[in-house]
Amino acid sequence: MTDRLPIAVCISGSGSNLQALIDTPHASFEIVGVISDIADAYGLVRAQEAGIPFAVVRWKDHTDRDAFTRAVCDRADELGAQAVVLAGFMRILGPDAIARFPDALLNIHPSLLPQFPGTDAIGQALRSGASQTGVTVHVVDEQVDHGPIVAQEVVDVRPDDDAESLHARVQLAEHRLYPRVINAFARREFRVADGSVVWREDAEHDAYEETG
Ligand code: GRF
Repeated sequence: MTDRLPIAVCISGSGSNLQALIDTPHASFEIVGVISDIADAYGLVRAQEAGIPFAVVRWKDHTDRDAFTRAVCDRADELGAQAVVLAGFMRILGPDAIARFPDALLNIHPSLLPQFPGTDAIGQALRSGASQTGVTVHVVDEQVDHGPIVAQEVVDVRPDDDAESLHARVQLAEHRLYPRVINAFARREFRVADGSVVWREDAEHDAYEETG
């Protein structure tokens, strides 16, 4: 028996955020399973090496978004997860996922939302000429890359940045922020009330670099 919060992590690719979660010291969460929509995602190798059960739920094996969402949630349930953490999961889950994991579905996005939602957030930041971008962790709601913001970290855009260099620095920020937020979530240090995140008074979230 463990008193750590059982979570499922959904991935589609390299899984470097998954790795950061696997490597979290003093984790108050336990990754009980990894779910990927891509059978050869490198993140599944990371799961296997860490001895974490994994499942593949292919988009094309399902008739529509609702059926795909149901399958992902069913896997998460079977794994015993009480929360679902999206970490580079490139599919949009339907409303059923929010109903089945209320305020327990989290996502990380490589920008300071509401800026640069959707795909290619890094390219959008570069093309906009912004001097700063960053990382957002949020609770998922019905809209894409939207929902109560839990924490953000700012990343400077350097004049000589290209997509690769900027993404590399953004990922370093992701790997710092996501484990801390998921730990805070597992410790019930924040909750969602009226569409906003409310921190427990004794939570140490001041340490997060948050923006408006
Ligand atoms: C991350 O930058 C995440 O913010 C975005 O997709 C990327 C996934 O990277 N949604 P990884 O698979 O965790 O390495």
